[in-house]
Amino acid sequence: MDKIVALLIGPPGSGKGFQAKIIQELFNIPHISTGDMLREEIKNKTSLGAIIEEKIASGKLVEDSIMNKLLEEKIKKPESIKGFILDGYPRTLAQAINLDYIFVNHNITNYKVIELVVGDKVVIERILNRYTCLNCGSVYNKISNNPQVEGVCDNCKSKNLSKRSDDVLEVVEQRLVTYHNQVKPILEYYDKKNKRYVMPTDQGTEENYKKQLLKIINN
Ligand code: AP5
Ligand code: MG
Repeated sequence: MDKIVALLIGPPGSGKGFQAKIIQELFNIPHISTGDMLREEIKNKTSLGAIIEEKIASGKLVEDSIMNKLLEEKIKKPESIKGFILDGYPRTLAQAINLDYIFVNHNITNYKVIELVVGDKVVIERILNRYTCLNCGSVYNKISNNPQVEGVCDNCKSKNLSKRSDDVLEVVEQRLVTYHNQVKPILEYYDKKNKRYVMPTDQGTEENYKKQLLKIINN
């Protein structure tokens, strides 16, 4: 059977993590978030964590060479055998080209690139209201998505809910600049391969997103 591989591309706050969770539940494949992987390195105070902390705090990208290595290691793991969802990679054209090499090595031809489209004003509002479980990474929102019991993570029951340190207005604006500077050639690259699907995420219900994702991935 073909592996199920979905790439989620979109600005900060477009819902890459949110939609990845839906795909994960639908197909039972792992959600690979490069942002989460990097935050884990910082949390664990690894030598890599020390190198990348400054980049993340300022809304700039971590070097391609570091990202490519991290990603390849993750894709090699047995849990990725049935497929995976990439959230936040590729973020540069060089990463997209590197991903092609990884796909060749892992015999992956049938992948879907899903571009999440939403305006900057909406995403800024979402991000400034977002909070995250520092234990398991589950994501909540003060306006649209609070846990069932206030202050307690639905998934792991931790009370360690907090804002991400890069979720302050100045850094969010820089992350948006970084995104808009990099994304055009990536989208053109996948257009040439006929791989891009566009999904607006400015409004819609979870049920509706589920239907759209099923249609794209099963296409
Ligand atoms: P990363 O963690 O990937 O951050 P990001 O791209 O800025 O994206 P976010 O995680 O902020 O947003 P999201 O799209 O996941 O939205 P979410 O689902 O949470 O990367 C962080 C940093 O790491 C980068 O700045 C960079 O420095 C570095 N990095 C990572 N990958 C890299 C790479 N490949 N190369 C180089 N550097 C890299 O949703 C946001 C909020 O909105 C939530 O509260 C959610 O509940 C809510 N929400 C989502 N969708 C909806 C909806 N449809 N309706 C209502 N509310 C919604
Ligand atoms: Mg995210």
